[in-house]
Amino acid sequence: MKVRKAIIPAAGLGTRFLPATKALAKEMLPIVDKPTIQFIVEEAKASGIEDILIITGKNKRSIEDHFDSVPELEQNLSEKHKTELLKVVQSTTDLGVNLYYSRQAHPNGLGDAVLQAKSFIADEPFIVMLGDDLMSDKVPLTKQLIDDYEKTHSSTIAVMRVPDKDVSKYGIIDPEQEQVPGLYNVKNFVEKPDVADAPSNLAIIGRYLLTPEIFDLLESQEPGAGNEIQLTDAIDRMNKTQRVFAHEFKGDRFDVGNKFGYVKTNIDYGLVHPEVKDELETYILDLAEKIQKKNKK
Ligand code: G1P
Repeated sequence: MKVRKAIIPAAGLGTRFLPATKALAKEMLPIVDKPTIQFIVEEAKASGIEDILIITGKNKRSIEDHFDSVPELEQNLSEKHKTELLKVVQSTTDLGVNLYYSRQAHPNGLGDAVLQAKSFIADEPFIVMLGDDLMSDKVPLTKQLIDDYEKTHSSTIAVMRVPDKDVSKYGIIDPEQEQVPGLYNVKNFVEKPDVADAPSNLAIIGRYLLTPEIFDLLESQEPGAGNEIQLTDAIDRMNKTQRVFAHEFKGDRFDVGNKFGYVKTNIDYGLVHPEVKDELETYILDLAEKIQKKNKK
């Protein structure tokens, strides 16, 4: 069956970015000039996804507004012959995918957010995309998972090696042998283990391809880490009855879900952004020199 649908959970409170996220959805924080959620939607489209359900919550109305048209703005830009800007604005509505929204009243963890999509997904395999992780590779990571699925017809979770100090922030897999290079059988999936108990440093990153059997498991899932319904725990149970693979991502991952990662991603993306890259590079080189001089004193 073709993988056509994706879910983007976006109901989280974004407490790591307060006060910016007091009145603004964290998914709307820009990387240079584009909100993070737009990168996610574009990755879905580039991977052949047709329908996306965004799970929203309080303070998230700006996400719906962002993907809606603003006729006055478009008219103004067109009258002033600002054609490039007009194209930029139109690219937020001419996405080539259908967007749907569901507002979650009482968020209770990632597993609970995914469960909201049960009737939207019905009985198809689907993708979950977390907005905190931007991925860059020749083939989009979501498409890489879909390509795996077409061969294995199994759930496949994207993973990446992380330093030991970061292991306790992630879902971690206990890998068995590689099936083919980069694709692992998995013994166990563990949510946020202590580094001493962690079975590996292969961490779940924000892209999942799941078969619809996950929903029955989520419905009966007991709270886990943080006393929330964890998707990782339901995946671990599913792995006991049907094979769940882990796909090791070899491209670049930008974690925009924490302050340092967010600032770094703005710099990395700024260095390839046509409008700012030259000035930014000169600025960074000057700044590095100043910092070095200051540290020598
Ligand atoms: C979630 C998942 C975790 C995964 C991580 C990836 O955690 O629960 O398994 O490794 O996303 O970013 P969160 O970052 O929401 O705490």
